[in-house]
Amino acid sequence: MGAPKAVRVGNDYSLGGESADMGSVTFDFRDETVLITGASSGIGRALALAFGAAGARVINADVTPEPSDADATVPTHDRIVDDGGMAAYVETDVTDPAAIERAVEVADQDGLDVMINNAGVHLESPFLEVSPEAFDRVHAINVRGTFFGCQAAGRAMLAAGGGTIVNLASISAEMAKPDQAVYESSKAAIQMLTRSAALEFAPAVRVNALAPGRTATEFGDGTAAERRASVERGELDKPIPLGRSGEPEDLVGACLLLASEGASYVTGETVFVDGGFQVI
Ligand SMILES: NC(=O)c1ccc[n+]([C@@H]2O[C@H](COP(=O)([O-])OP(=O)(O)OC[C@H]3O[C@@H](n4cnc5c(N)ncnc54)[C@H](O)[C@@H]3O)[C@@H](O)[C@H]2O)c1
Repeated sequence: MGAPKAVRVGNDYSLGGESADMGSVTFDFRDETVLITGASSGIGRALALAFGAAGARVINADVTPEPSDADATVPTHDRIVDDGGMAAYVETDVTDPAAIERAVEVADQDGLDVMINNAGVHLESPFLEVSPEAFDRVHAINVRGTFFGCQAAGRAMLAAGGGTIVNLASISAEMAKPDQAVYESSKAAIQMLTRSAALEFAPAVRVNALAPGRTATEFGDGTAAERRASVERGELDKPIPLGRSGEPEDLVGACLLLASEGASYVTGETVFVDGGFQVI
């Protein structure tokens, strides 16, 4: 199979046209390199498959290549290559800035165009019971990982004269719920460091955040199926206006847009992809 030339952006990444096609919106990442942290599973995997199908060279920087998703058996980079795309895996623990530097070096061999700081972990614990170790682990992966991901990618992109960065924030950056203080504070920090980096890297490099609502992945408090079912049973504290659980593929359109020339005048922004949950 030859290199991918097209994808319909949505739940089905079938190949076949000239570029990534989302209704009348077209994305084309041929000749671009995209580095995604934590792309073995969940949202990062969905984003990686979409960029791969849109023609990008995709580098997955994760602690493990093995997907945790129940319906995924093939590692992300193998799946992209099997579909005729270009992809590689670089073992990376984002808590280690030197490891992130190495992943950026690998990705930057042909020029790093897009960096997605996606790796993240959740913690549900009452404020009064959080240990310093638990706090440090979440902030090391979510905040430190994203900060030094921006720093390493920013250096490479500024030296090359351009690029764009997308950081995974969350509705939790702006909504307080019980037992979420550590996670919420980490995501609020990501939202703010996105603005700081956007300011310092402008005009050559744009930096934005993508803020998912509750999304059906193996993340935090249950399996993807359990998380989807809890939304269907109406167990959230308020309804989702668009009437269903978020799926990893729901993040694809907004992420491709932020990473593309279509968003060339957008920087420092947080785009919420939550079915309207956060506006109620
Ligand atoms: N799923 C949701 O409901 C939701 C909602 C809002 C925001 N988010 C954010 O989206 C991002 C992705 O979450 P997800 O739901 O896909 O989670 P996930 O658990 O399905 O995937 C996370 C990935 O990150 C990797 N990872 C974990 N620690 C790492 C480390 N130290 N270094 C490198 N990689 C590491 C894991 O191996 C995994 O592949 C996270 O930043 C999360 O905070 C998720």
